[in-house]
Amino acid sequence: MNYVSNRMLNYLEPQMYARFTILANQKGCVNLGQGFPNFPPPQFLREALSQEALTEQLQYTQTAGHPKLLNSASYFLEQRMGLKINIDKEIVVSSGAQSVLCCLMQGLLNPNDEVIVFDPAFDLYRPLIEFSGGKHIGVPIKPKVFNTKEMMQKRFQNGQFIYSDDDNWELDFQLIKKRIEYDKLAEILEKHPNIVVCEDAAYHHITFGNNQPFIYPRCISHPKLKDRSICVISAGKMFSATGLRVGFAIGNENIIKGMKAAQTYHIFCLNPVNQTATARCLDQTADGIYFDSIRQLYEQQATKLLKGLIESRLNLNYWVPSGGYFIVTDISNIEIPNKYFIQNDVKVTRDFAFAHYMINEFGVVCIPCSPYYENKETGQNLVRWAFCKTDETISEAINRLK
Ligand SMILES: Cc1ncc(COP(=O)(O)O)c(C=O)c1O
Repeated sequence: MNYVSNRMLNYLEPQMYARFTILANQKGCVNLGQGFPNFPPPQFLREALSQEALTEQLQYTQTAGHPKLLNSASYFLEQRMGLKINIDKEIVVSSGAQSVLCCLMQGLLNPNDEVIVFDPAFDLYRPLIEFSGGKHIGVPIKPKVFNTKEMMQKRFQNGQFIYSDDDNWELDFQLIKKRIEYDKLAEILEKHPNIVVCEDAAYHHITFGNNQPFIYPRCISHPKLKDRSICVISAGKMFSATGLRVGFAIGNENIIKGMKAAQTYHIFCLNPVNQTATARCLDQTADGIYFDSIRQLYEQQATKLLKGLIESRLNLNYWVPSGGYFIVTDISNIEIPNKYFIQNDVKVTRDFAFAHYMINEFGVVCIPCSPYYENKETGQNLVRWAFCKTDETISEAINRLK
């Protein structure tokens, strides 16, 4: 008897993030691995959750989303992004951006449909595509700017790091591209009317340098791309509460229709307390003031970690983030002791060997990036470090890397 379907066989082991978190705990490491903030969420979110828990009816609500949340999201998106959406047709809410993406794949794909994914890509996309019968096709994107330690040092002036418009490397799976690049994409796609564009905007509120949060160039607001696009948003990321499990997608009504059907026969509807509490939070933050402070906080933490990595014993090369939660570094200059290339009797790629080297000899967890590439060789010299952490956590990591 088969207890597990064939499509699950490759996914039975705990995810890489969980494995590294377990190791971090076992070995007393500073965890810059998994991308969750280790500081408390805003008080207004806690208050909204407690108030809604006392009054919300706690019955099934509309499968596409609680009306209060649909209205608040629509108001928020208009205020912050200038988008007008039809709440009956162009939005669906689900349990975090992950579940929204799952509904997208299930609602959209037919067997053997090809999904082009620009690598590095979130390692969630492949299973979601494959479980829905699609074929994952990874196309690597090379970062434009490669900064050595010396180049990075020069970019620190008066204690401030200078972010540039060329820092387009973003391991948060949405490269902040220039408007001209989207124009080019639109031109190419004109010849391919069946292609749908999915923009995973989980980190669209955290941008650095001149990139404005929410309104940097993107597909969902591009005149020629918007009608064929779906944009996925995570309220959990927006309110630094990854356990909130509220996400939504906006975009083309025909695609949203399939997503709503997928949602109906999957979870039916999302917990209404979380939805109405999120609605309150969106109303309270639609003026953008909260997000200005959040963006500054993350930029400050990114800068602190960048500085620490530059001053560390490690001779790394850097791609500077244009936002999000992570710094990606190239480890090709690092000599890694041979013993770390074998883990549980299996030979591992350089990035995994490096991560184990860091855990065992430096007491710091980072995440290997080869899983984000179709061709593992392409990513085997890259690791990522999360800066969505408290000052104390980042300082401790820096101390250990000195
Ligand atoms: C790029 C990206 N998309 C989607 C998600 C899932 O977000 P959520 O926690 O809202 O499910 C994540 C979570 O790490 C992510 O990094």
